[in-house]
Amino acid sequence: MRRTWMDVTRNGLWTGLAAGIALAVAACGKDPAPAPSGGAGAGGGAAPASSEPIRIGVGGPITGPQAKNGSDLVDGTTMAVEEWNAKGGIRGRKIEFVARDDEADPKKAPTAAAQLIDQGVVGVIGHFNSGSTIPASKAYADKGIVCITPASTNEFVTDRGLPTVFRVCGRDDQQAARAAKFVAEEFKAKKVAIFDNRTAYGKGLADNFANALKGRVEITVREGFDEKERNFKPYLNMIKEKGADIWYFGGIFEQAAPLLIQARGVGITAPMMSGDGVHGYVDDFLKKVGEGANGTFTTFPPTDPAFIQRYKARFAGKEPGPYAIFSYVAANVLLHAIHDSGSEDGRKVAEALHKGSWDSPLGKIEFDAKGDVKGPPEGTYVVWVVKDGAHVVHSSK
Ligand code: ALA
Repeated sequence: MRRTWMDVTRNGLWTGLAAGIALAVAACGKDPAPAPSGGAGAGGGAAPASSEPIRIGVGGPITGPQAKNGSDLVDGTTMAVEEWNAKGGIRGRKIEFVARDDEADPKKAPTAAAQLIDQGVVGVIGHFNSGSTIPASKAYADKGIVCITPASTNEFVTDRGLPTVFRVCGRDDQQAARAAKFVAEEFKAKKVAIFDNRTAYGKGLADNFANALKGRVEITVREGFDEKERNFKPYLNMIKEKGADIWYFGGIFEQAAPLLIQARGVGITAPMMSGDGVHGYVDDFLKKVGEGANGTFTTFPPTDPAFIQRYKARFAGKEPGPYAIFSYVAANVLLHAIHDSGSEDGRKVAEALHKGSWDSPLGKIEFDAKGDVKGPPEGTYVVWVVKDGAHVVHSSK
């Protein structure tokens, strides 16, 4: 029977099983196989000659309302692992990955991290949400395991300066500054309302945005609500009472969709603006909201259409989420560093990541001392708008 990586065990443990390549399978909560010899993930030494696969981890929201994000993580990693295995793996050893579910919940992330550490992973692709990545990456760092997040944009992820923590995405101080420049200088708003979902990501992004607007545009409303909140009428009424030419939401697509539907329902026609948490979700945002999504602004880096075609060809026409390409690049640079370091000791792999330079579909990847990708200080964010039900670049100034 052809299985896919979407197999899930009853206790919620996940594994990657890509068609055609053998990956570790977590069956009914039992570890599938002994950790690769050398114990590299737990700070082991140089890799002994071994025929065991080299194991990496994926941590993120595999189930729950943000499962699309977990699917990006797993799919991007699958593509990278398949490519490396087709070329013979690393040092003659196959690559395998195991995935663990944090359900986008900061309280569950340490458990997912502990499970991946227990699996002897050399490095982890993840987590997705800043609120999960912040505690999980500390747990990995304590064991000398590399953590490369494709998606966590909160500044604190890398500002702690943990030597084994990296990200291939941008930062919220960058995307908030880009959004504020657009709102103040191009959109020329007089009044702005700002909401967030009270998470590390959403609140951090909205606070950055509000700070960047200070002295430029009047902020009429500044409110936060729980990420499980689904009745937005009290908050939307504030926009109606206090006024806003444009309103901003620091949060994620699954909450942005009902928020925007309700805004249109109460007659708010001013556009919504948001960040990467809302950008690029077709089924879960654009299609859900329908016509009311047109005119919505987001900040996100430009995408690579060639990667989208490759992804669709690999996954039977499935639409990639915005972070599939970042997950693919994160997995690739991790594998390059395992290769280049000649080691499965996470600390040596981290040194190779700090020294290396790799071309990727996101451009050149070189990390600075903190683990951010080197590049312009303002980042690579551009402003997108939803037009006729699709995200298109609106302004790249
Ligand atoms: N950029 C979002 C976060 O950091 C996904 O949580």
